[in-house]
Amino acid sequence: MMMARGLVSMLCFMSLVYGQSTPDLASMNALRKSLTLPTGFGWTETDPCLWKGCQCDTSKRITRIQLGDTSISGTLPSEIGKLSSLTVFEVMNNQLTGKIPSLSGLSSLQRVNLHDNRFTSIDADFFTGLSSLQSLDLDNNPFGPWEIPLSLKNATSLVEFSANNCTLSGKVPPDFLGGLTFPSLTTLKLSANFLVGELPMSLSESPVQVLLLNGQKGVEKLNGSISVVQKMTALTEVSLQGNGFSGPIPDFSGLVSLKSFNVRENQLTGIVPSSLTELESLSDVALGNNLLQGPTPIFKADMTGLNSFCLNTSGTPCDPRVNTLLSIVEAFGYPVRFAQSWKGNDPCNGNGWVGITCSGPDITVINFKNMGLTGTISPRFVDFTSLQVINLSQNNLTGAIPQELTKLSKLKTLDVSNNHLYGKVPDFKPNVVETSGNPDIGKDGLDLLQVPLVRLPGIVARKHLKKMQYHKMHPQQDSGDQDALKITIENLGASGSESGLSGNDAHLVEAVNIAISIQVLRDATDNFNEKNILGRGGFGTVYKGELHDGTKIAVKRMESSIISGKGLDEFKSEIAVLTRVRHRNLVVLHGYCLEGNERLLVYQYMPQGTLCRYIFHWKDQHLEPLEWTRRLIIALDVARGVEYLHSLAHQSFIHRDLKSSNILLGDDMHAKVADFGLVRLAPEGAQSIETKIAGTFGYLAPEYAVTGRVTTKVDVYSFGVILMELLTGRKALDGTKSEEEVHLATWFRRMFIEKDSFSKAIDKTITITEETLGSINTVAELASHCCAREPQQRPDMSHVVNVLVSLVEQWKPAERSRDLEDINGFDYKSFFSQMGLGGSTSNAGNTLTSFPSQPPEFENTFKSGQGR
Ligand SMILES: *[C@@H]1O[C@H](CO)[C@@H](O)[C@H](O)[C@H]1NC(C)=O
Ligand SMILES: *[C@@H]1O[C@H](CO)[C@@H](O)[C@H](O)[C@H]1NC(C)=O
Ligand SMILES: *[C@@H]1O[C@H](CO)[C@@H](O)[C@H](O)[C@H]1NC(C)=O
Ligand SMILES: *[C@@H]1O[C@H](CO)[C@@H](O)[C@H](O)[C@H]1NC(C)=O
Ligand SMILES: *[C@@H]1O[C@H](CO)[C@@H](O)[C@H](O)[C@H]1NC(C)=O
Ligand SMILES: *[C@@H]1O[C@H](CO)[C@@H](O)[C@H](O)[C@H]1NC(C)=O
Repeated sequence: MMMARGLVSMLCFMSLVYGQSTPDLASMNALRKSLTLPTGFGWTETDPCLWKGCQCDTSKRITRIQLGDTSISGTLPSEIGKLSSLTVFEVMNNQLTGKIPSLSGLSSLQRVNLHDNRFTSIDADFFTGLSSLQSLDLDNNPFGPWEIPLSLKNATSLVEFSANNCTLSGKVPPDFLGGLTFPSLTTLKLSANFLVGELPMSLSESPVQVLLLNGQKGVEKLNGSISVVQKMTALTEVSLQGNGFSGPIPDFSGLVSLKSFNVRENQLTGIVPSSLTELESLSDVALGNNLLQGPTPIFKADMTGLNSFCLNTSGTPCDPRVNTLLSIVEAFGYPVRFAQSWKGNDPCNGNGWVGITCSGPDITVINFKNMGLTGTISPRFVDFTSLQVINLSQNNLTGAIPQELTKLSKLKTLDVSNNHLYGKVPDFKPNVVETSGNPDIGKDGLDLLQVPLVRLPGIVARKHLKKMQYHKMHPQQDSGDQDALKITIENLGASGSESGLSGNDAHLVEAVNIAISIQVLRDATDNFNEKNILGRGGFGTVYKGELHDGTKIAVKRMESSIISGKGLDEFKSEIAVLTRVRHRNLVVLHGYCLEGNERLLVYQYMPQGTLCRYIFHWKDQHLEPLEWTRRLIIALDVARGVEYLHSLAHQSFIHRDLKSSNILLGDDMHAKVADFGLVRLAPEGAQSIETKIAGTFGYLAPEYAVTGRVTTKVDVYSFGVILMELLTGRKALDGTKSEEEVHLATWFRRMFIEKDSFSKAIDKTITITEETLGSINTVAELASHCCAREPQQRPDMSHVVNVLVSLVEQWKPAERSRDLEDINGFDYKSFFSQMGLGGSTSNAGNTLTSFPSQPPEFENTFKSGQGR
């Protein structure tokens, strides 16, 4: 043994001193053997460090192989994957063929240049572990059809990725480009391939400066909207030429570095925005051969090739009728069909503008029936005072019928049947408007109906809330607010005998009014007195309050600056969700207020505040740390609330912002999930929906952070992080910790794998006994499972509930009977009292809301608005 070790060190010593052998000799010999080198190339020395184009470091390891433009042919052997000190590998402009072998694990490799060869394929494992790779060029190789392998995600240092003209097929990978995976990526060139489909939303967060996607060669090409470039503010050069992109050119005002923009030969429609024509940095623009509409813009752009401008002379405005028609179709997203048909500057010239009928120069009929239109009805129809008939039936229009249209004095028919319109129908003359086939027409106010109705699960499913109606409330004694909304719930449980609700009771439920006037809330909070502030969130301030009857409430008041846009969306989302879902582990919404600029939500008060308070701040707040069994029960409460959200009959809500500061505790220390501002309705089936990323760092599932795609598994991940917090007493993100401990989920998984160190990770305040240890281990395992990297590897919430139930059962038989008394966890008592049945709201539960000051967690919240 001793002798062997001595021998090895002696050999090493010899190789260093005499340079006789390098650990890379065998690999380099294999390379020499599989290449066909031109005569006189050399590579005859025994030491490969001396070979032409090769370089070694002081330990005689090969660091560079640079054989570009050397007329070599042959193939690359798999042995190059063993050159573990390699930093640069260049063989461009040769006649190499065969497969590009895996370079998996070459963690020093920075630059790989393989362009202009005859390689026929690339190993799917090529990128695995290439954590230092900055630049890769694969251009002009005759690969068989291939897609960018998942392993590329390992190459997180990428700066330049070029794969032009190398038979790349399929879609641009959804999470390939996200700034979170590739924070340094500045150049992305994928021209002249066979890519299809739409640009992924993740691109919008990418720091890419040069984006070349032009000239896809398949019959199908890249298509859909180019709106994603609007947010790519680092762009300097964009080439999207020769694809199937459609829709309008987005706002370019943020792209202050853009020099070159080529979108020739697509199907772009709409008016060229002034944000593009006025962009100072721009020197090179090509817009020809699209379907662009409106006036021919004045600016130095290559316009050769056709468009659908109204006039050929730059800068001359279009006929007012054309402008109005363009406004109308703008609200539909400028469909290609109109851009193709509407040529020139006179809609009444008899050239068959699709959908338009004139009498002389006046438009009298607009008939867009059954054209597959989406979007909304523009109020600009009103400009055509001679209009007699508007037919928009059998499309997919949303929004309300604009009030303005009642001013069209000659209008005989407005047919909007069979769309998805909602809102109050304006007062037209009798028999003018036809609205049949719009299920939500007449429902008012908030476009709550973006969130379709849901059914309650289990027993309740049979007596589900059939219909909710929203209509304006008329001024009343107790609330003089004109805008307050009234929510009427009709037909609750009309058929269920188990419900305990007779037909009469159902009648009683009607007209439950959850609009609360601002004056009531001012009184309750002492005019929003600072001393009543419980916390501040990204969207407003939460106050504690007390109603006249003594009911304690928590009032969330939105900042007026965020009332429009995303803030309003979240406000609506929260009302929409909370009025539809009832569960004892979800916080109860008592009502809301919409008056003037005020937007307030009123919740049940939760006296013990957030879970954060108990696991991170218990010392400052003079609280007792939570015992293990209590943590288990809280975890189970949260799991049940989330399971319920995920499994509402055949529809499913995704919370998207689960975190310990959104978990509230009642005096009985049972937990409820709060903050439904980001909730999304999950699509049917297993597919995901793309949204703008919103949520809180530290709790974001990786696939969501990168692609914005959400499934219920995003919540499962966040729940896993909460379990880790309960186990360790550490925050999801803790900036005060060292680099490798900042991110709880990453650190936890590492600690969990190293079984020895795992016990050190457990919160010191948890008393570890033989009894608790088993259950701690099970929860740790569950937490890791929930935080699995791949969403499909994470369990469903129902599985999580089962695991936790068995632990709680084992631990606290007494708790069990209370916790398991109803299978659905549906809080009937609270629900019925909310509905005005049986008891006042004040005994709605011993569970009450509060949002004690938790600035750190709130500040971590970032919400970049919401996509659809
Ligand atoms: C595309 O790549 C092929 C080799 O696969 C090459 O022959 C051809 O010249 C390349 N096209 C361009 C425009 O460079
Ligand atoms: C690298 O890629 C492989 C293959 O896709 C994947 O299994 C692995 O998790 C990745 N490793 C890292 C560190 O991302
Ligand atoms: C884009 O092309 C795909 C086929 O590659 C097609 O399914 C999809 O509908 C197209 N999308 C648009 C917006 O044209
Ligand atoms: C613009 O010019 C083209 C080519 O000269 C001609 O075909 C087209 O009719 C013109 N369009 C208008 C609106 O005058
Ligand atoms: C509008 O179009 C629909 C669908 O073709 C048709 O059924 C309806 O009669 C039209 N309405 C009027 C007023 O012409
Ligand atoms: C209309 O829109 C809904 C939802 O936006 C969609 O599910 C449906 O497929 C659309 N229908 C048509 C005919 O486009």
